[in-house]
Parts: sequence; structure tokens; C-alpha cells
Amino acid sequence: MPGDKSISHRALMFGAISTGTTRLKGLLEAEDVLNTAKVLSALGAPVTKIGGEWQVKGRGVGGLAQPTEPLDFGNSGTGTRLMLGIIAGHDMTVEIVGDASLSRRPMGRVLGPLQQMGLEIEGGRDRLPLVARGSANLIPITYELPVPSAQVKSAVLLAGLHASGETSVIEREATRDHTERMLRHFGAALNVETVAGKTKITVKGDAELQGCDVVIPGDPSSAAFLAAAAALVPGSDVTIEGVLINPTRIGFYEVLREMGADVSFLNERDEGGEPVADIRVQQAPLKGVHVAAHRAPSMIDEYPVLSVVAAFAQGETRMDGLAELKVKESDRLAATVAGLIANGVDAAAEGDVLIVSGSGAVRGGGLVETHLDHRMAMSFLTMGLASREPVTVDDTTMVATSFPEFLSLMQSLGARFGMGAEARG
Ligand code: S3P
Repeated sequence: MPGDKSISHRALMFGAISTGTTRLKGLLEAEDVLNTAKVLSALGAPVTKIGGEWQVKGRGVGGLAQPTEPLDFGNSGTGTRLMLGIIAGHDMTVEIVGDASLSRRPMGRVLGPLQQMGLEIEGGRDRLPLVARGSANLIPITYELPVPSAQVKSAVLLAGLHASGETSVIEREATRDHTERMLRHFGAALNVETVAGKTKITVKGDAELQGCDVVIPGDPSSAAFLAAAAALVPGSDVTIEGVLINPTRIGFYEVLREMGADVSFLNERDEGGEPVADIRVQQAPLKGVHVAAHRAPSMIDEYPVLSVVAAFAQGETRMDGLAELKVKESDRLAATVAGLIANGVDAAAEGDVLIVSGSGAVRGGGLVETHLDHRMAMSFLTMGLASREPVTVDDTTMVATSFPEFLSLMQSLGARFGMGAEARG
């Protein structure tokens, strides 16, 4: 499995704000991550590929340089929001831009706490393009997350490394904890405690990070498409090697199992401070399930493909607490419902609840609008592997933002893709 996107972004950024050289094995070479690499190079921390390994020459905490051009994050919310936390701690003014999808996404959720710490935003905007002015004298804060977001948590913690004193983030629901794990690996002083049933994460400011080696495990969010294909296509038995199984990321696999799929984690091991396994999935008859709201953070990017799986199950799948789906690369709640209906599936969104009524089989034959969203394209192409008629998506170029190998890996498992009529041949 190609490298995890969340961990790849973080490994590059943390390397850039460390002293010395950071060496990365298994970095995801997808557009989102390569944009972060370009941004870091523009900020004076060169990122290069030497042989099969990526290297970052670190500048130390607070040591990045004023860029001469706008920083372009392409499609990546993670790149933008985490880098805003780092830029906040530098006495420089930068212009931040992105593509049409990224320019529609809310940035107020990170700008709010970062402005409390000392970041200034020209014109008080909360969408890209933004002009941001950081400060070498950030104020430490304690911030309780109003939405369950690892990006917001990470942005505040990264700014906290640059502040003087201790910065804390409090979260009610556990979100992915790669920042916490990896900051420790780079030598940051970080404390995690439970206070009144919530998690409080505290970092010490004026931090010094030490460049190191990072091994990046395979991406469970990308592997979800292969796992879904294996669960749906009769006779399948697929093993996906080297996938991250961090408990904050594997909700999709747990639900797949509850639906009746045969999912096993083999050869469990630790790689670079993260748990990893080979995931084996065998096709089996599936039934609809109830997915409670508290599970959303552990599978937030997997709801579109889970909805596709639910369409092939017998009975209703009800997924609660999906407000965050509306502010991803597209409004994934609306786009998923539209894609399912276009393919003859009975589906509806009621507030932040998604309901898919499966009948064991899917007609397919629909044209799905992807709205510049990689996961919409991959989810509905996966549907086409098991539906009666092929499924068409309006665009596949965005797949390169997170999983450039998607089509070729699927083809190696026997999938056939084509342009329009060719696919039906
Ligand atoms: C990510 C966090 C999630 C997720 C995104 C990656 C991260 O976003 O959807 O794909 O790497 O921290 P939110 O923090 O907005 O939930």
C-alpha cells in the first residue's frame, strides 16, 4: 500500500522545523503531499528524493524563511491547515492559495485559535486565498475543539511549539493522533492526559526538534477502496500489505466486519511508532448496520465508500453524525446521495444522517459528478466493479491527489476501466 497521506504531510513538515536531516521511507508520492514538499522548499527547507528515499533539510523551530511567491496547496486541506499553524510562529507575511475545491473550504476553524495566539489575517477572510502574517512571539492558549478535527488540533499544537509556555488542545472525541505520536518521535515535550472524560494534549513551547528517520505505513483510507472491492466482488480474497491500523483510523474495517465481511488483520507489527498489519478481505453476504455518531472521526474519509458497500448489503445502513462530511473536498453527504440515486440505489440524507437502503444488488449505469473530489471518484468506480451495469464518473484526474496508483492496482486485481462506451465493451 502506498504511504499514509496524513503521516506523509506531517513527516515532511516536522522534518522542516527540526534541526538536521530527516529521512523518509514510504512517503506518499501523491499531489497533495508533493505540494507540501514544494511549499517547504519555498520556505527554505529543501525536500529532495535521493534513491528511493526522501530527505528534508530542517531549519529548526521558527527557522523557516520568507517565501518569494504565494504558497500553493492545490487540493489539500491538511497541507493548508497544518502549515498555517507553522506559519503562525514565523515573523513573515505569506499569501496562501489553492484550487477551486480548497478555496471553498472553511479555514475559520484554524484561523480562530491561531489568531488568539497572534496570527493576523488580512481583511479577516476565512477562505483561500489568504494573506497571513505570523509572529515570533506567539501567545500560548488552551483550546477546546468545537469540531472533532485532527487538522485543527495539529495546527494549534504546531503553533504551540513556537509559543513561549504551554499550549493545550482539549478534544471530546478522539481524532487521529499522528501529530502527537510523531512529535514525540522528533523529541518534542508532549503530555496527553484525560480530564473530565476529555483528552488534553499539551506541548511545551520554545521547542527544539531533532531530525530523524521516519517509516511511513500504508494508507488505510486508500486501502479502503481495495477492501470494499474485495468485500463486494464474488469470489474475492485480497490481502493488502503494510496498512496502518492505528485505532483512530480503522472504523471502516470494524464496520465492514459488522456488516458480515470477512476481514482479518495479519502479521500485526509496529513500524515507526504506528501499528501496521496486512489486511485480508474475503467476499461474503453483507447486511445493513447502524453506525453511531461517535465512530465518525475514526472513518471520516471512508463514508462515501462505506455507502457504496451499504448499497450492496441487505437492509438499511444508517450513518449518524456526518456534519463534517459537508466540508470535505466536496459536500460528500450531498454528492454521495446523488451518486447512489444516479445508480438506482435508495438513499437519503436527513440533517447529518445518511441512510442507504440496500437490496443486495445495485443496477449501476449512472453518471456520477465528482466535484473535484478524489474520494468520490474512487468510491463510485469501486461501485462499478460489482454493479450490474458499469458506473461512469465525470473525472478521474483528482485521484492523483491521494492515490495515483488506484487504477493500476485495481486493474492488477482484475478491474477494467475505460472511457465511456469502451468501458461497456
Ligand atoms: C486529516 C484529518 C481529517 C481528514 C483528512 C486528513 C489529517 O480532517 O478528513 O483527510 O491528516 O489530520 P479533519 O481534521 O478536518 O477532520
